[in-house]
Amino acid sequence: MLQMMKCVKDYIAGLSSLEKRDPTDEENIQGKIVILTGANSGIGKATAAELAERGATVVMACRNLDLAKDAIADIRKKTDNGDLIMMELDLGNLASIRSFVKEFKRQYSELNILINNAGVSVSW
Ligand SMILES: NC(=O)c1ccc[n+]([C@@H]2O[C@H](COP(=O)([O-])OP(=O)(O)OC[C@H]3O[C@@H](n4cnc5c(N)ncnc54)[C@H](OP(=O)(O)O)[C@@H]3O)[C@@H](O)[C@H]2O)c1
Repeated sequence: MLQMMKCVKDYIAGLSSLEKRDPTDEENIQGKIVILTGANSGIGKATAAELAERGATVVMACRNLDLAKDAIADIRKKTDNGDLIMMELDLGNLASIRSFVKEFKRQYSELNILINNAGVSVSW
């Protein structure tokens, strides 16, 4: 968790946090199945990179698969670890959510980590 917070803090500097990792304070997530919403940009992309570096299977739940593809290509310049799988999900559309769940359950028998990252920041 501490490493994840460090990663978020560093994400403004691109994916450079991967090089600053301290492997001694990390929980082992090798092979864990993660759903990460909004994984194609910002904090979500930095989180996907960190999880992949640590060996997780990251299901990148994104509404725009072209952007997800670009994000995967970027992350793969930094690490070959883990699996990065894009799967379409528009959280503003119930049919899309049902379809995502059906597809996820078809491909995976378990879910270890769910990260509800997608969203918008609203200034008051
Ligand atoms: N950055 C901050 O300082 C900050 C502070 C407090 C909280 N947060 C929260 O942290 C999260 C990530 O922030 P961020 O700065 O990384 O934001 P970001 O760069 O704008 O990324 C948001 C992600 O959410 C996705 N998304 C938005 N609506 C979606 C929908 N209906 N279905 C599927 N995906 C959707 C976006 O996809 P598209 O690319 O397709 O739009 C994008 O991948 C947000 O929930 C935000 O509210 C951020």
